[in-house]
Amino acid sequence: MKTRFVRLSGKRFGKNLRFALVSDLHGEDPREALEILRREHPDYILMPGDILERLDGVEDAIHQNGFSMLSEAAKIAPVFYSTGNHEDGGVHSWCIFWKIKTKPRIYHEQDLSRIEESGACFLRDGFTVRDGIAFGGLQSGLINEGGSPNLEWLGEFCAQKEPKVLLCHHPEYYERYLKELPIDLIVSGHAHGGQWRFFGRGVFAPGQGLFPKYTDGVHDDRLVIGTGLKKGSILIPRLFNAPEVVIIDA
Ligand SMILES: [Fe+2]
Repeated sequence: MKTRFVRLSGKRFGKNLRFALVSDLHGEDPREALEILRREHPDYILMPGDILERLDGVEDAIHQNGFSMLSEAAKIAPVFYSTGNHEDGGVHSWCIFWKIKTKPRIYHEQDLSRIEESGACFLRDGFTVRDGIAFGGLQSGLINEGGSPNLEWLGEFCAQKEPKVLLCHHPEYYERYLKELPIDLIVSGHAHGGQWRFFGRGVFAPGQGLFPKYTDGVHDDRLVIGTGLKKGSILIPRLFNAPEVVIIDA
């Protein structure tokens, strides 16, 4: 696992701040990422989704790992967490074999309690203002009618006078929905760096297809995409694409 350091220009938060971006753990062992977080002393830890798998109340190792990630990270710095498509049980419609019907987002009460007990601030298509910064979380739209995210609350979020940080699991939403909005920092995951990387480019990302544009790094000096923490599997290995924690100095 690597630590990627990025620096954004200017003083958009009025002072120097360090954010850690942690995404797409998918319920794997969180200890290596936690070591990086302890070492790098972030002011805030941002987790834009797919930290756990489906929030269905099942007590298994995947759930244990995901909740450990939340609760242990919250001992290091304030954690802001928003879900991805995996917590929702949503998949991309191109995946004809696994396509699921549109259905309401339902999280098991036990899982919601565990998120609350972890100390992480859970952002569900909404925002909170903390320390003079507005932190928002835009959830995946894959299980919604038409597959689009819920954008209704973004108007109020963008009207806040404070600098704004948005957690948005899907990086492809940036160009579709977010590019024109006055948001100071947007963090995403989901694309896993394009899974296989050649000549600095990812090969494939769900929702973007072949040779996707948004898989890693910094875009427009404000969208930061993490390639995620999940290691590759035998069936779908990661090539030239190490899992990463991203440290953002802004
Ligand atoms: Fe995802």
